Amino acid sequence: MNHILKTDPVMYELIGKEIGRQKSHLELIASENFVSLAVLEAAGSVLTNKYAEGYPKKRYYGGCEFVDEVEELARQRVKQLFHVQYANVQAHSGSTANMGAYRAILKPGDTVLGLALDQGGHLTHGHPLNFSGIDYHFHPYFVSKESETIDYEELALLAQAVRPTLIVAGASAYPRIIDFKRFREIADSVEALLMVDMAHIAGLVAAGLHPNPCDYADIVTSTTHKTLRGPRGGIILTNRQDIAEKVDKVVFPGIQGGPLMHVIAAKGVAFKEALEPSFVEYQKQVIKNTKAMSDEFMKLGYHVVSHGTDNHLILLDVLKTTGLTGKKAENLLDSVNITCNKNTIPYDTQKPFIASGIRLGSPAMTSRGLVETDFTTIAQLIDRALKNPNNIDELASVKAEVIALTDRYPLPY
Ligand SMILES: Cc1ncc(COP(=O)(O)O)c(C=O)c1O
Repeated sequence: MNHILKTDPVMYELIGKEIGRQKSHLELIASENFVSLAVLEAAGSVLTNKYAEGYPKKRYYGGCEFVDEVEELARQRVKQLFHVQYANVQAHSGSTANMGAYRAILKPGDTVLGLALDQGGHLTHGHPLNFSGIDYHFHPYFVSKESETIDYEELALLAQAVRPTLIVAGASAYPRIIDFKRFREIADSVEALLMVDMAHIAGLVAAGLHPNPCDYADIVTSTTHKTLRGPRGGIILTNRQDIAEKVDKVVFPGIQGGPLMHVIAAKGVAFKEALEPSFVEYQKQVIKNTKAMSDEFMKLGYHVVSHGTDNHLILLDVLKTTGLTGKKAENLLDSVNITCNKNTIPYDTQKPFIASGIRLGSPAMTSRGLVETDFTTIAQLIDRALKNPNNIDELASVKAEVIALTDRYPLPY
């Protein structure tokens, strides 16, 4: 940081403020994490200087002998991690990975089934303003009103009625195990392809704590920066050689130019970390922590969507219990140094920008070392804030406790 201070004090100050924010806030955004210093170092390395259009040993630029090894190493490690035969590690983000996957297996106008966006699906699963909704005909499938989990019976019937070319499994806000075997059976029953976007749960999959979609899907995409705890980026995996060849062509030259070699190196470092036994322990703790938070909220009388969680996140219906919308809850919690996001809950009566719920995840704070008792405390602090939105003293007291908690678990940055 010394160099930024010398050349660009304005930027230095802003980065410093963000470091301060990360240190003093409870980070509960389910899609965020704190990378290791090793990942950070690789992402900030001189590899950012290198152009390497193409793939290892087939580049359009000279001087690629070392970045070839970097990319090959990242590819080998991610294949080992997810027990899969082919990997493309060049996608700049999860969205680009999904674009690459769709373009490799679909034609424009093809019909696709994806989880309804207001029930957990991602923008790239057919939002009308997103390329996915513009290029393809997405039909939503839904969760059951009673269980608030994916209604596989309904999905099977919908697939028969719609006869999609592709079924997409995976979500941004779904607290339960996804039954990829069942998805495969449904896809097979209508001769559809199956894609899994495991962006949110990739870390749990890597640790063997969630079924591995690579065992069932034709193609699997992921981000590398959520539970997987790597740098911001995407990957595309498959066991089908025909699809792998198409993916490589679609990513470069189809969608992207030069790969971000510094990010690919950081992905490689993160994959190595994820292959260590300590990563499995970390992911087990992630799940224990969300369960502790979920149990406490239920004790406090909240409706937790699907009555609990199997993974790294919970969806909390705040409107029902506190009368606050998700938007108001998010802003209120922000004011006491608790960071989360408003989120629609299944069959929400509010618009997505207002929402009835909030999404709370444990991956980031688990990386800082927090355990179950801390997450029980976090639920109590959130409850106190939400039930006292106009009580300045109570909010100040919650904020002081939040800061004390973050101080107990320092960040290494
Ligand atoms: C399920 C899912 N897929 C894809 C993405 C897109 O990732 P990115 O933000 O890197 O484009 C996200 C991001 O939140 C996601 O939740």
